[in-house]
Amino acid sequence: MTGGHVPPIAPGRRPLIGHAVPLLRDRLAFLQHLRACGPMVRITIGPKALTVVNSPDLIQEMLTSKSHQLSKGLLFEKLKLFGKDSLPVAEGRRHLTRRRLMQPAFHREQVSGYVQTMRDTVEPVVARWRDGDNLDIKTEMQLMAQNVVMSVAFSSHPEDETARAILASVDTVFKAALRRALLPLPVLERLPTRHNRRVTHASGVLHQAVAGIITEHRVDPDAYDDVISLLLAARDEDDATLPDDEVLSEVTGLLAAGSETTAVVMAWLFHELGRRPDLERRLHQEVDAVLGDEPLTAVHLPQLPFTRRLVHETMRLYSPAWLVTRQTIEPLQLGDTTLPAGTDLIWSPYTLHRDAALYPEPLQFDPDRWLPERPQPPKGAFIPFGSGKRQCMGDAFAWTEATIVTALIASRWRLRPVPGARTRPIGEITVHPSSLRMRAEARKTPTPREAA
Ligand code: HEM
Repeated sequence: MTGGHVPPIAPGRRPLIGHAVPLLRDRLAFLQHLRACGPMVRITIGPKALTVVNSPDLIQEMLTSKSHQLSKGLLFEKLKLFGKDSLPVAEGRRHLTRRRLMQPAFHREQVSGYVQTMRDTVEPVVARWRDGDNLDIKTEMQLMAQNVVMSVAFSSHPEDETARAILASVDTVFKAALRRALLPLPVLERLPTRHNRRVTHASGVLHQAVAGIITEHRVDPDAYDDVISLLLAARDEDDATLPDDEVLSEVTGLLAAGSETTAVVMAWLFHELGRRPDLERRLHQEVDAVLGDEPLTAVHLPQLPFTRRLVHETMRLYSPAWLVTRQTIEPLQLGDTTLPAGTDLIWSPYTLHRDAALYPEPLQFDPDRWLPERPQPPKGAFIPFGSGKRQCMGDAFAWTEATIVTALIASRWRLRPVPGARTRPIGEITVHPSSLRMRAEARKTPTPREAA
């Protein structure tokens, strides 16, 4: 550190390994404790030092007015396993041009045109459940969210077996990326170990599946009007089309960014409802009154304020992102510290959203805290999608999808906790439930249209 105040080192550092033990043992609890250490605090993993930014004001500054002084950092470097230059990991000019190219497909108005496709993707899954089924809710939600991204953005409707193979591959690559970010040992990453071969294989399976979808678009371009069409039609300043490997990276990156995140929000929402029959009752009353037996359309969404508050509160208490990284590309003045170029920074939406200084009774799941008449959290205290130029491009997509999935499931099913099951949050690439099995109890039988 140069100049001004130097952020303190967090307690509990051990010789040589630094804070590796608490970080590997219970990283969510460890990061949460660090919030008591002040606006910024340093931790070490072996020889590597990381500066954790806790203050909502400094996080905002970093993501907005000072974003040009930062690159995406350690985690995103490792996420290049999905594709070298996809939007979430691209930097500088490439990021800007790609974001301009794809963003229109994710604008709020455009997203309201996806409601029917989202509904038609989710309904048949939910209609296949049988009364008394013991469901692995996390996997159900992952498949549902993946299918929604694939149907809306790629006009693709994979068979169940293919969808599961894609899901397993994404999972393997995500796990490897996180492990490599937390314990960066580049030499080990290149060795032909069994683990590394598994990661290479998973990445190959994923790329092959995505390449097949892109080929279908190339063969019959007029049949499609989606995000892949946008990428295939794009021209650079020299009127050249995007190289194949770049289209592949973008499509794979979108699939990875858009599936797991929304899926875990849905899983946590139904986990909370399973423990709170009072909230479940209110949800049922709302969806029954608004939807009746009609098919859900974009017109219904604004009429579901309680459903939306449930989604809002889940995004607060169970923010999927718990670790977001940055690296300074030049000396950066943050608060009263000047951080040298090359400083690794992290911030955590998950721990920010659970801070008692920002939210009264932060661990209480209370959707009504978002009622407009209640005092709202300070600016910068609710940022599940980040902020500034790298803010999630799929935020409107995710809000819409989560509202639809919640309403469609609630209109047909109660998901009851399996007695004795314990569910804990685990911080991997997202914060996901350790395991979440729930029993499906039918509220209504599906209409022939829904079951089709
Ligand atoms: C609840 C669901 C979601 C959450 C919580 C979430 C959260 C995030 C976060 C925290 C970032 C990184 C911000 C940063 O580095 O500062 C991000 C980036 C991104 N997300 Fe999401 N996301 C969600 C759903 C989606 C969906 C559904 C899509 C697309 C279908 C998507 C596409 C992207 C893309 C493309 C980026 C990179 C944007 C850029 O760097 O310009 N996300 N998301």
